[in-house]
Amino acid sequence: MNILVVGAGGREHAICWAIRKSTKCKNLYCVPGNAGIGEVATCVNIGITDTEKIVTFSLEKNIDLVVIGPEDALVIGLVDELKKNSILAFGPNKSASILEGSKSFMKEFFDKYNIPTAEFKCFDNHQDAISYVKHMGAPIVVKASGLAAGKGVFVCQTEDDAVAAIRNLMLNDTLGEAGKKVVIEELLLGEEVSFFCLVSNNDCIPLATAQDHKRAYDGDLGPNTGGMGAYSPANILDVSLSEKIMRTIIKPTIEGMSLEKRPFSGVLYAGLMITENGPKVLEYNVRFGDPECQVILTRIASDPLEMFLATAQGRLSEINLEWKKDSSLVIIMATNGYPGKYQRGSVILGLENVEEMIDVNVFHSGTANRNGNIIANGGRVLGITATGKSLKEAQKIAYSGVKKIGWENGFYRTDIGNKGL
Ligand code: AMP
Ligand code: GLY
Repeated sequence: MNILVVGAGGREHAICWAIRKSTKCKNLYCVPGNAGIGEVATCVNIGITDTEKIVTFSLEKNIDLVVIGPEDALVIGLVDELKKNSILAFGPNKSASILEGSKSFMKEFFDKYNIPTAEFKCFDNHQDAISYVKHMGAPIVVKASGLAAGKGVFVCQTEDDAVAAIRNLMLNDTLGEAGKKVVIEELLLGEEVSFFCLVSNNDCIPLATAQDHKRAYDGDLGPNTGGMGAYSPANILDVSLSEKIMRTIIKPTIEGMSLEKRPFSGVLYAGLMITENGPKVLEYNVRFGDPECQVILTRIASDPLEMFLATAQGRLSEINLEWKKDSSLVIIMATNGYPGKYQRGSVILGLENVEEMIDVNVFHSGTANRNGNIIANGGRVLGITATGKSLKEAQKIAYSGVKKIGWENGFYRTDIGNKGL
């Protein structure tokens, strides 16, 4: 089969790595890819939201399946355009992607279908939003309704911070259109966990759980990032809690989306808070997490291509996913300054020493190849991913991999996985 993967991050590197292992995969392409992806797939310089070019390329290369990584491509309707041209795609169409594309849609949907979530109100007028904050008091959470690449959520400890966040979003347009509408919600306390399912044709298989580390620095300090590390499975979820999540959150979501005539297909990723009053949804994403994808795919023992195909073809009930018994853990190495301003172009050494380690994969995010050298070309740059018999062992192996990398302009957290130990 000929497969095209859309995206340029560690998530897409892991997807390409997994698909490459399948005996069914003949040609593997990635748009636009990165230096690491270039070692397992043919990278083609097309932007992830350049729908027309992606369709033309897929037709030219007789692509049998397109696997889409990032939300931006899903939200603008890449799947719909591919389908119009009879090209099979893994991922939800535009109307179902609204679950991630609009937090105000998502929250009102939770309300309508009684799905447990933080108390909230939506606003498209800053005065009303500010009055609501003054009425509710702090702490309180302010969120841009639209897509903001992880930069649209403000957990505010004081009313002043919340008012400033509202002003920045709604008056100063710091996130453009994405911040024209805001959701203001109650601060939930508890342990966060990511819960992933495969969905198609109203069938659903719980896929895996993972724990992300969103803050930039050790001890969950510093600004929010796209994720500085993750591990899977998330051991705080036992069987009965997982069943409760399926019954009270995931199933009503899938049924509700069908009733709304927005049937979902692809990976549904619930960001949950396990509170004293049970699990509640913080947000839905309509794709794999990055870096959670890296730790999930490295645990799958069966053919991952079959998993993507069966989901896209609506025959999930036919597959039987097999898992390794291992835990998996990924440590992100990022450029100094991330998630704020950072410089591109510093050289990364020692990759070959890590790549030869057993049970370790180096997934590239923002890298490029300059005259044969791998250079940093983004905020998050590498994901050193290890599997081990236990979380502790995976952690130990992953950190020994990180220590073999020579990169002066990079940093990483030293406590990934500690909260699970
Ligand atoms: P989101 O993109 O909505 O998942 O928010 C990003 C991060 O902000 C989450 O992973 C949480 O750590 C935090 N967060 C969002 N909403 C809330 C909430 N209502 N209560 C507590 N923390 C939250
Ligand atoms: N790691 C968080 C996300 O992919 O949204």
